[in-house]
Amino acid sequence: MCGITGYIGTRNAAPILIEGLCKLEYRGYDSAGLALLHNGVLDVKKKKGRVAVLASEVQSKPFYATMGISHTRWATHGGVTDANAHPHISSDGNIALVHNGIIENYENIRKFCESKGYTFKSQTDSEALANLIAYHYEYRTNKDTKNRLLEAVRKALAHVEGTYGIAVLSKFHEDEMIAARKGSPLIIGVGKDEHLVASDVLGFAGRANRVIYLEDGQIASITKDNCEIITMGNKPIDLVVNDIDWELETADMGGASSFMEKEIFEQPKVLENAIRGRISDDSSTSVLNGLNMTPNELRQVDRIIFCACGTAWHACMLAEYYIEKYVRIPVEVEYASEFRYKNAPLDKSTLVFVVSQSGETIDTLEALRESKRKGFKTLAITNSVGSTISRESDGGLYQYAGKEVGVASTKAFTSQVLISLLVALYMARMRDLSFSAGKSIVDSIISLPEHVKNVLKLAPQIKQIAKKYAYKHDFLFLGRLGEFPLALEGALKLKEISYIHAEGYPAAEMKHGPIALVCPECPTVIFANTEEIIPKLVSNAQEIKARKGQLIAITDTPESFEGLADDIIALPKVHEAIMPIVATIPIQLLAYYVALERGCDVDKPRNLAKAVTVE
Ligand code: G6P
Repeated sequence: MCGITGYIGTRNAAPILIEGLCKLEYRGYDSAGLALLHNGVLDVKKKKGRVAVLASEVQSKPFYATMGISHTRWATHGGVTDANAHPHISSDGNIALVHNGIIENYENIRKFCESKGYTFKSQTDSEALANLIAYHYEYRTNKDTKNRLLEAVRKALAHVEGTYGIAVLSKFHEDEMIAARKGSPLIIGVGKDEHLVASDVLGFAGRANRVIYLEDGQIASITKDNCEIITMGNKPIDLVVNDIDWELETADMGGASSFMEKEIFEQPKVLENAIRGRISDDSSTSVLNGLNMTPNELRQVDRIIFCACGTAWHACMLAEYYIEKYVRIPVEVEYASEFRYKNAPLDKSTLVFVVSQSGETIDTLEALRESKRKGFKTLAITNSVGSTISRESDGGLYQYAGKEVGVASTKAFTSQVLISLLVALYMARMRDLSFSAGKSIVDSIISLPEHVKNVLKLAPQIKQIAKKYAYKHDFLFLGRLGEFPLALEGALKLKEISYIHAEGYPAAEMKHGPIALVCPECPTVIFANTEEIIPKLVSNAQEIKARKGQLIAITDTPESFEGLADDIIALPKVHEAIMPIVATIPIQLLAYYVALERGCDVDKPRNLAKAVTVE
């Protein structure tokens, strides 16, 4: 979603800001802009469209400055126009602001500012804040105060309802940038004689190895060689500077034609990373120290709630499948956005788990906070070291999958599923799962990267299948048990990047509605890798063929679908525990090749954002 970068130092700011915006492009956006400050002049350029459009504008009219702020906007309030792009400048020309998040009471703020003579050029909520800060600067701060800009921002933010990550400049403060956050991530990069600000460490473009994570309710006054942080209540905060592991954060395509392609094909390595150091010496269970819970505490847990959004929510459904199967305790999977408002009944032996690749999805973060507010132990599975969710959870497991840039999640999904299998195994071995059953799951986990490597070799066949079906308007995905979440994920992947309408269903539910869609123009993808229900799935396949539907079977029992399915993607027979991960690979490849065939931008699908940081 929206991205922020800021720079204050001794070098030419514009190229650094543009480079930062390019690194944040993957998050999804529709316009870009920057503001540079030099000799009391604020130079603002903003354009709808790609960062490249802004970059050529900047190159054609260069403006030298050693400080500036920049932004990629994902429209919420107001359409995609140059005027609605950030930065926003207060109507008195003093304040430049970039903002991520949503100001819920912006209409009241706007009316208030208008009553004080401030005017508006955009339809955004953010411009209201720029004017409110300008108002406080002018009328509510002492002109001789050294911290006048900081004070103006602090006082203005006290009137804001909603969420924000902001970076602010004033044309009267050549040597200061203000940054603040509530509910929208913001990180300060510490360099030599320079500071950077970004909504995601990638925005630093590898320029800072040390970072300060701004917490909610904190405001920073940043100069090139100093950073001071206060709370909204004006109390100073001790700085905590962290090192960044760029190896984990680096994102380059490494020879692939898109990030999505790279991320699909690097899954064998990603799965190895998720397992590394997490198998016990006796090889019958997993070792998960990150959970920060003793075996005794874990044994007391008699219900687990998983919360997430999007693809991570599908990973949670597999967590439910594993935990109910192996640990034999009830699990519920909640959309984080529902959980945070529904006041679900929880009791003291309930454990809450949130799952988030980015570690910044606002609804997932708020679900975590809601659970913590109620005093529950809340754990997280996340891919982003240092993300807000990783910092605020009581414990958890990192995926170590490497940065995922493609908007449609692939490697993060399989890695989340694998980690939830490790959790299930760990808890099951504390209860009733035998040594030999545990050992067979561990053996299967160890063999998983190799199986995935082999299934990836089916790419040329799946590419051909994709060509055949790429121009259909609808798709059905059917699966049962551990393959039902795959049906949902297959449908989601396809619609996200190829814009084909697709639905996922438990196979037996087909007869309760979706079968009405079946016709030559609506192909069905059926998962059939669970031995005991293969005959049922074959019946479903027959029902589809009887209605002239085209059928693609993803199965480890290809002989059951010969003469029935139009196309068969044959999978190896693997242990039931790892089967859902192995069977995910074909649907990722199918969606990927269909999107390519249709000429879609797989890494930046329309309207979507990588990290959804507004409600
Ligand atoms: C967005 C992304 C999805 C992702 C979801 C949850 O919708 O486009 O790919 O699954 O957010 O993201 P998270 O970072 O919390 O896993």
